[in-house]
Amino acid sequence: MQVALKIWRYDSSSGERALREYEFDAPDEATLLDCLDIVKDKHDGSLAYRKSCRMMICGSCGMRMDGAAVLACKTRMYDIAQEGRVPVISAMGNLPIVKDLVVDMDPFWSKFKAMKPYLQPGYDVPQDGREYRISQDRMNVVHKEALCINCGCCVSECNAMESDPEFLGPQALAKGMRFVGDPRDAATVERLEQYSGPHGIWECTRCFFCNERCPKGVDPRDAIAKLGAEAIKEGIDRDMGAKHAKWFIRSTETTGWLRETELVPKTQGVVSSVKQMKFAMGLIKHNKAGLAFPPHVARDVNEARNLHKLVNEQDRSGALGHVQGERALARLAHGHSGEESLEEIYNRQGAFLRPYLPGEGSAEGQGSLTQADVTPGKEPTKKPGGGA
Ligand code: SF4
Ligand code: SF4
Ligand code: FES
Repeated sequence: MQVALKIWRYDSSSGERALREYEFDAPDEATLLDCLDIVKDKHDGSLAYRKSCRMMICGSCGMRMDGAAVLACKTRMYDIAQEGRVPVISAMGNLPIVKDLVVDMDPFWSKFKAMKPYLQPGYDVPQDGREYRISQDRMNVVHKEALCINCGCCVSECNAMESDPEFLGPQALAKGMRFVGDPRDAATVERLEQYSGPHGIWECTRCFFCNERCPKGVDPRDAIAKLGAEAIKEGIDRDMGAKHAKWFIRSTETTGWLRETELVPKTQGVVSSVKQMKFAMGLIKHNKAGLAFPPHVARDVNEARNLHKLVNEQDRSGALGHVQGERALARLAHGHSGEESLEEIYNRQGAFLRPYLPGEGSAEGQGSLTQADVTPGKEPTKKPGGGA
């Protein structure tokens, strides 16, 4: 196939910068990395980029294609070439460029190291001399985080890092969650205290770009949400972001709605609210602040309350509850067309078991402790009474 690429060339020593175009023949199965190899071998040996494994394992070949971070060795060029597109290749964002597509990874690794990315064991060695076993439920909490290959694609796209380069960032926080969620680690509270400080968990703007660009499905934003949930569970809620989240939980439980109007007094306190009264009056005057009294209660508020009860009854606070909610949402997203009722969906052949809600008399439904991880038509991996 005929491929054309535009590549941003940059030399940090001279500050020279130029967008160069290259056209060449490549095999149909070529990836972006193969194409860069062809450019370097046959057209311009001075082109600088990183690579090693060529199979999405080492994390070396992160770069941007048309402004979005990709792993070059994962990106097939066939469709792009067929469409006649000429993508623009540039270095990753949020890290200083050294040369062409090579960035300085030192800031990335210092944040990584700051997370203490190693197990600090704190468990009793099993008496039977066998290995320390972890339940499937607990492994589900850190499964995605353990897939990270440290490529930096998430960091490249992080909005919060653009405004605060000191922000720990999606990769480091996902690594932190890998250890906070590991039941063998003894430093959970110390870690959560550290990650909840300035430039930590609560600085994330929830733009979800890190989830979107991660080539390994780590979903760093979800890891940050789990860290937040774990921090609140441990009572580490000094940050305004934590107070904000707590109020939203409370307001959905009581009314089924996010009562944003009450957010300022509930999170910043009375003194700060009084100081902002002039601003609030301006909002009210322009009909920008809904002041419903008594607060509006959603018609199906019992669903929100039942969910809250479910999480408490199953002892699924913190990251466990987050994972359960994430999976339930994914299932609904894949199965709920809007035309069938939920009952009809759950009655389909091979469908997931209907969720158990408190008071319905079953503790065995999807989302219950015994059915936490089940594939349609398959036996659950965690059987009643099984696991460690
Ligand atoms: S969701 Fe948070 S961590 Fe992820 S890219 Fe956005 S600001 Fe950064
Ligand atoms: S979380 Fe994903 S995008 Fe970020 S460094 Fe790890 S593998 Fe790369
Ligand atoms: S070369 Fe190793 S991940 Fe691309």
